[in-house]
Amino acid sequence: MGFPHQRPRRTRQSDAWRRMVRETHLTPDAFIYPLFVVPGRAVRHAVESMPGIFQLSVDEVVKDAKAAAAAGVPAVLLFAAPAHKDARATSATDPKGLAAQAIGAIKEACPQLLVWADVCLCGATDHGHCGHVLANGAIDNDSSIQTLAEVALNYARAGADAVAPSDMMDGRVAAIRARLDEAGRATTPIVAYAAKFASSFYGPFREAAESAPAFGDRRSYQMDPANAREALREVLLDVEEGADLVMVKPAGPYLDVIRRVRDAVRVPVVAYQVSGEFSLIKAAAARGWIDERAAVLETLTGIRRAGADLIISYFAPEVVQWLRA
Ligand code: PBG
Repeated sequence: MGFPHQRPRRTRQSDAWRRMVRETHLTPDAFIYPLFVVPGRAVRHAVESMPGIFQLSVDEVVKDAKAAAAAGVPAVLLFAAPAHKDARATSATDPKGLAAQAIGAIKEACPQLLVWADVCLCGATDHGHCGHVLANGAIDNDSSIQTLAEVALNYARAGADAVAPSDMMDGRVAAIRARLDEAGRATTPIVAYAAKFASSFYGPFREAAESAPAFGDRRSYQMDPANAREALREVLLDVEEGADLVMVKPAGPYLDVIRRVRDAVRVPVVAYQVSGEFSLIKAAAARGWIDERAAVLETLTGIRRAGADLIISYFAPEVVQWLRA
């Protein structure tokens, strides 16, 4: 009777062995926590589809930013849902607008915490699209990137440590870089949502950010979920245009894209575990169908194993606490 010569189980037989041969590690420094700011004072409004996530007024968002920083989260990603919405997204270019206020308040309260500002038009437009809409309903790329550049400059001036364009217009990274540089903001990094797919997993976010399109969908600017080769093209273009970090979004259904991007570029790769990925785990855990902590750590380990250097996750504060415990 033959015995196996190769026995991979030898290095799996105790926790000490498993720790020693572990290939992928999660570290607190890799996490970014999204925050949603809304108008008002003392507002802490639960997002129904995202248990534990809230729409927060500026005073409250400062509290959660402080708590995240105290837990050891190095960065937050800020989304604003201003009250005033119009066709030109003027709230987003206003130096006294909601996002600018929140950025300033967070930086004042926690100077060490990095504030990444999401740059898009959808939260500040009445039509909810990520660019300007023409009379025929089409999205006007080239006027949109001019406005996006103004939004980015506004947030950089408000104190943002990075601007993160999530609109998926062509050429916006170059437009933003040029505008920041000419305005004396050459040191503000750009985190480009480079490969952002038109995903069904953004549903819960649109409740939180009040950014669902009033008509149509985002498929003329966000990517077709079937395309990985095109994702590489998008990423390489953004790097060429000056992106300092590139992002793949969502994360879980696109692990192959994360791997290919990691192998193709020299800048840090960020993956966004989006709202729907969060809500699926929360919903199953609430029913007792899944062990929440184990599932969260497994999904995040998978995202990191695929090649993500950094992960944006609604689980960030909890995970960082688990990792530090
Ligand atoms: C807006 C934006 C979206 C997300 C981040 N920025 C939604 C969308 O494109 O419709 C999704 C984040 C999430 O689902 O957690 N441009």
